[in-house]
Amino acid sequence: MTSGSLPIIFALPGNEALAAALASHLHASVGELAIRGFPDGETYLRFVTPVTGSKVVLACSLHHPDDQVMPLLFAAATAKELGAAAVGLVTPYLGYMRQDKRFNEGEAVTSALFARLLSQHIDWLVTVDPHLHRWHSLDEIYSVPSAVVPAAPLLAAWIKANVNSPVLIGPDAESEQWVSAVARDAGAPHVVLEKIRRGDRNVSVSIPDPEVLRGRTPVLVDDIISTGRTMIAAARHALAQGLPTPVCIGVHAVFAGDAYEALLTAGAARVVTTNTIPQATGVIDVSAAIAAAAAGLLAG
Ligand code: R5P
Repeated sequence: MTSGSLPIIFALPGNEALAAALASHLHASVGELAIRGFPDGETYLRFVTPVTGSKVVLACSLHHPDDQVMPLLFAAATAKELGAAAVGLVTPYLGYMRQDKRFNEGEAVTSALFARLLSQHIDWLVTVDPHLHRWHSLDEIYSVPSAVVPAAPLLAAWIKANVNSPVLIGPDAESEQWVSAVARDAGAPHVVLEKIRRGDRNVSVSIPDPEVLRGRTPVLVDDIISTGRTMIAAARHALAQGLPTPVCIGVHAVFAGDAYEALLTAGAARVVTTNTIPQATGVIDVSAAIAAAAAGLLAG
């Protein structure tokens, strides 16, 4: 990238490490964005670093989207008003992807509504493994160009380097797409469990054929650990079959409520995630892959 086209990276609150990593990989600068809350809870926002004529990249993971999206939309709209040449969004965890269908009459299909809202204010976005289930591509709901970074090669590299004789376990049919890709890259076998979800925190799973797991280290792999109840059910079931304590790997460490502690209590040997969401478990670094994807969109 030539110096004349260097973007300016701005961190939304809590995304400072991500912005610094992106700037380093892209040989770009980090701009100053002042954001604070007024006493009544409204947001004050000011671009201290001028953006006129520059390509702006906003770094903002969206794991608490209801709180995070208002400052993000204000930042994107203000950058445009101030004459930014383009406004891109790097959101390693893209929230609001799971309600992809009107399951009951009158429900909001929030994935599509959220996509429509964001698309009005940004020119492109980069994310890591969005939860695509009934939607097959972000293009079905986002009207701006997007790039999706796959975490599978990074997860596979971590497993190869850290786990002896692994067998990968996906907790439900939806996880098949991630688990099979990670297993292929890691050169390990995999199985997918049968899951029944009766409520937000009421999940049960079963292993179709426990014998294929004997003599190996179980590695549970899922895209999102939210309440942790999916992983907990899978870990308990593996232990009940007499298997060794499992390693739990998630792409996105949402960790709602007591999820992390409950997973350790349930018998996980270790919980490891990427750093798409800032958490202590985030030892698998996605920033270089994200920066490479962003570079492609910045050049376009
Ligand atoms: C489900 O479709 C996802 O792939 C995850 O399995 C799910 O989001 C995990 O949620 P929780 O941690 O709340 O069980």
